Amino acid sequence: MLARVRSAAVLGVDAYPVDVEVDLSSGLPTLATVGLPQSAVKEGRERVHAAIVNAGFEFPLKRITVNLAPADRPKVGSGFDLAIAIGILVASGQVSGAALDDLLVLGEIGLEGDLRPIRGALPVALCARALGVGRLLLPAANGAEGALVEGLEVKAAATLADVCRFLAGQADLPVARAQPSLVDSEAVEDATDFADVRSQAAAKRALEIAAAGGHNVLMIGPPGAGKTMLARRLPTILPSMSLEEALEASKIHSVAGTLPAGRALLGARPFRAPHHTVSDAGMIGGGSWPRPGEVSLSHAGVLFLDELPEFRRNVLEALRQPLEDGVVTLSRAAMTFSFPARFMLVAAMNPCLCGHLGDALRECRCDRAAIERYRARISGPLLDRIDIHLQVPAVGPGELSGAGAPAEPSAVIRARVEAARRIQRDRFPAQPGIYSNAHMTARDVRRYCRTAEPAEALLRQAIAKLGFSARAYSRVLKLARTIADLAGVAEIDPAHVSEAIQYRSLDRPRLPAVARAW
Ligand SMILES: Nc1ncnc2c1ncn2[C@@H]1O[C@H](COP(=O)(O)OP(=O)(O)OP(=O)(O)O)[C@@H](O)[C@H]1O
Ligand SMILES: [Mg+2]
Repeated sequence: MLARVRSAAVLGVDAYPVDVEVDLSSGLPTLATVGLPQSAVKEGRERVHAAIVNAGFEFPLKRITVNLAPADRPKVGSGFDLAIAIGILVASGQVSGAALDDLLVLGEIGLEGDLRPIRGALPVALCARALGVGRLLLPAANGAEGALVEGLEVKAAATLADVCRFLAGQADLPVARAQPSLVDSEAVEDATDFADVRSQAAAKRALEIAAAGGHNVLMIGPPGAGKTMLARRLPTILPSMSLEEALEASKIHSVAGTLPAGRALLGARPFRAPHHTVSDAGMIGGGSWPRPGEVSLSHAGVLFLDELPEFRRNVLEALRQPLEDGVVTLSRAAMTFSFPARFMLVAAMNPCLCGHLGDALRECRCDRAAIERYRARISGPLLDRIDIHLQVPAVGPGELSGAGAPAEPSAVIRARVEAARRIQRDRFPAQPGIYSNAHMTARDVRRYCRTAEPAEALLRQAIAKLGFSARAYSRVLKLARTIADLAGVAEIDPAHVSEAIQYRSLDRPRLPAVARAW
């Protein structure tokens, strides 16, 4: 009396197949789950018991053994409930198991037999397709998520009783459908727009470049200069996601359970703005069974760190590795997890503790040592990974109140960003994971960022004078590439290089020079 139900478990952002085997034998009535079940899986037996009885079936008074194969990998979560319940019903002869061969099953069960949504339906659907399984059975709330994967029939069930009627061939289950026009259908929700920001032409230009190439930005300016205001408007000019990018990002949110209600696929690039008290586990991902952190939740989108120096030092230093590699790998005793983490870092800070260093409108009252202490909160290596160091000066009251010409709306800026991003998509067709200039590898930089002699000379001069690191050098080249793409030209010329160099003001070695620059 053995039943076998196909299911899957999520590891990191990918799923792997799990066979749920249920055996009934005579002996004292017990239910034992083997195959390294963690607590939520073990607790499932109470839910399964109640659900089977409440769905009008009999819970067999036998010795029941549930094996989750492969037995050597720990299993977490409540997604095996449905497979275990079906296994018990089939093994006890109450339901036919004929339909099970070509079916992968996942779902949590409530005490009344209702099916509850699970995390990671999207990676599970991708896994089912890779296995060649034709049909996937999911809770109704996950149907649309699973249906994103083509070449797979997704059945969405509301209750255990419905599933049993389906297995018995008495009633069919509805086939889930993906929502039409998934990518880019989500308008950025509120009415924020770059047109609200008066003057600040230089800052807007820099953010346009950053959005076009996916470059990291640090905004420095006095209190009230509009740094937070500018950053919050960034989502209105970000380029739309390609389907691959949307799938990559949605997989992470599917696993973390943070997909917006009623959506299967992220429609817009994520914009995450964690508070500065965030822990390193919250930022990078963590826990004994790791969950993706903010760096992964902002994959393909923006991670906005407002008041950068207030973040804990270990949290900021932990960003260095994902900023370079685009992935975080967390090792635990049981296994290793990898989460994609290729995000655009946007940070904001004041130039000093009082906030007015270099401010034309007010005097700074910090002494030199205090300024150095404040600046030292952001380490050199972190700064080195930021392509654009942007000074945001305070806007004078005249400019704020003056009627003036209306500022450019976000839609106009976004159209230019999209055009530049299209050039980049055509540039890296065969390189998975590389969608914009900021993602280029060292080899790509050599290939796509070639400069002619006058621009080359300018770069050499800058390296000598400003003491660029090798990383800063290649970041300047990437930035110059994006500036040229925005201009729609193939060749990087000296004007593009000099604009890119000008965005690296914090690389200037000694403090007095920096203070002057501010
Ligand atoms: N260029 C501008 N155009 C219109 N309003 C502005 C501009 N700059 C600032 N403001 C107004 O000032 C407010 C404060 O700006 P914001 O919060 O962005 O400053 P901040 O640079 O982040 O300051 P802090 O360093 O204190 O965080 C904004 O909400 C907005 O109302
Ligand atoms: Mg602010």
